[in-house]
Amino acid sequence: MNITWKLRCVVCQAEYDGLEARYRCACGETLDVVHSFAAPSDRESLTREFDRRLASRHRADRSGVWRFRELVLPIDRDQAITKPEGDTNLYRSERVAEYAGIDDLALKHEGENPTGSFKDRGMTVGVTVARLLGMTRVACASTGNTSASMASYAAQAGMSAYVFIPEGKIALGKLSQALAYGAKTIQVEGNFDRAMLIAEEACRRAGAYLLNSLNPFRLEGQKAVGFELLQSLGWQPPDWIVLPGGNLGNSSAIYKGLAELGDLGLLRHMPKIAVIQAEGANPLYTALIRGSDLVPVERPDTMASAICIGGPVSWRKSLRAVRESGGTVEQVSDQEIMDAKAVVDAAGIGAEPASCATVAGCRKLVARGVIGRVERVVGILTGHLLKDPDATIGYHTGSLDDIRPTFPNAPVRVSGDIDAVLRAMGA
Ligand code: F0G
Repeated sequence: MNITWKLRCVVCQAEYDGLEARYRCACGETLDVVHSFAAPSDRESLTREFDRRLASRHRADRSGVWRFRELVLPIDRDQAITKPEGDTNLYRSERVAEYAGIDDLALKHEGENPTGSFKDRGMTVGVTVARLLGMTRVACASTGNTSASMASYAAQAGMSAYVFIPEGKIALGKLSQALAYGAKTIQVEGNFDRAMLIAEEACRRAGAYLLNSLNPFRLEGQKAVGFELLQSLGWQPPDWIVLPGGNLGNSSAIYKGLAELGDLGLLRHMPKIAVIQAEGANPLYTALIRGSDLVPVERPDTMASAICIGGPVSWRKSLRAVRESGGTVEQVSDQEIMDAKAVVDAAGIGAEPASCATVAGCRKLVARGVIGRVERVVGILTGHLLKDPDATIGYHTGSLDDIRPTFPNAPVRVSGDIDAVLRAMGA
C-alpha cells in the first residue's frame, strides 16, 4: 500500500510515519494526519468526482465518509470497513429557525448515522486503520456515543472491543448499545476525564488500539461532516457552522477538512465555526474569553451527559479552528439546552440533549449580535433522540432537578372509558 500521509505534532511539528499505532508526539501533544494532496489540475474535477459517486452502488462510494476518500484517507475503496455511514439529512424547520432567530438555518442530523451519532464517521476510519495495523483489540473511553459506535464497528470487523465509561454518567440508550454489540464494558468510578486517562494507559499496557478522538485517524473521518454538508449545499459554504463541544474532536476535524479543501482551491470561503459548550463543562469557553491555555474544569456537570467533559483532549486543535475561522465559543445552561431540545423535538426532528446545545447556542449568539439573522447557518445535531429517553421524559413530566419545562407535553392518565378519553382529547 502506498502511504501518502504522515503524522505531525500540532505543537513541535515533529513528524512520524503515517501508519503507526501512535496518538501523541514524544513531547506529549496531539498529532494531525498531514496529507500530500496533489492539487487537481482542473479545480472542479475532484468535487465532480464526489458528485458522480452519489450515483454509485459501491459501499464505499455510498458512504458519506469514503466518498471523499482522497481527502480522508487515500486507500483502496475495498479496504474500508464501512456500513456505510453518513448521508444524513439537512433539515429546515420554520419553527426552529424562528426560535433561533435565523432566517436560513439548516440542521444536519448526524444522529441518523448507523449507530445514532456522528461518531460513526470517525469510527469507520479508525477501525479501518486498526485493521491495516493488524490490531485485534480496540478500546475507548466514552460518554456513550463513541463506545456504541466503536462496539458496532469492532463487531463488524471481528475485533475485541473494550469500553471505559464513567459509572452512572452515560445515557441508557448508549450503554445498551455497547452491551448489545458485545463490547467488554468497564464502568470506571469517577468522570469521563478519569476514564480517558485509564483508557490511554490500558491501551498502552494491553496492546489495544485506542479509538478516542485523540486518535488522529478518527478526526480524518469526522472531517467528512463538513464535506458532505458542502456537497448538499452545491459546494456553497454557509456563513456559520455551529456544533456542540465536548472532547472537541468534531470541531477540530470539520475545520481541518475545510482548511484542506481551501488549500486545494475548492472552498469559496471558510465558514465561521461556533463551538457550544454546557455552562457546567465549559473549559474552551473560558480559555477563549481569557485568551489562555485550557484550564480543566475539575467537576464537570451538565444534563447533556455526552459533553460532560472537563479536560478535552483536542482543545488546541479546536481553539485553532475557532480562531482561524473567525468563529467563537459560547456557553449555554442546561435549561437553555433542554428548552431548545423541546423545540427541535416538537419540529419532528428530535435529538439528544448535547445536540441541542447547537440550537440553544445559535439563539444566544443571535441575541448577542454575533450571528446575524440573515446569515446562512448550518447547525450540527450530533446524536439521535432515542439515545437519552430519560432526559426527554424527565423534561416533559417536570421531574428533572432544576429544569422547568417551558414547553411541556406530559402524558395524561385517564380511566379506561371513552368519555374520559374524549375529554382528554378536547373533543
Ligand atoms: N454531541 C454528542 C451527542 C456527543 O456524543 C459528543 C461527544 C459531542 C457532541 C461532542 O463532540 O467530543 O467531538 O467535541 N461524545 C464523546 C463520546 C465524548 O464519548 O461519545 P466532541
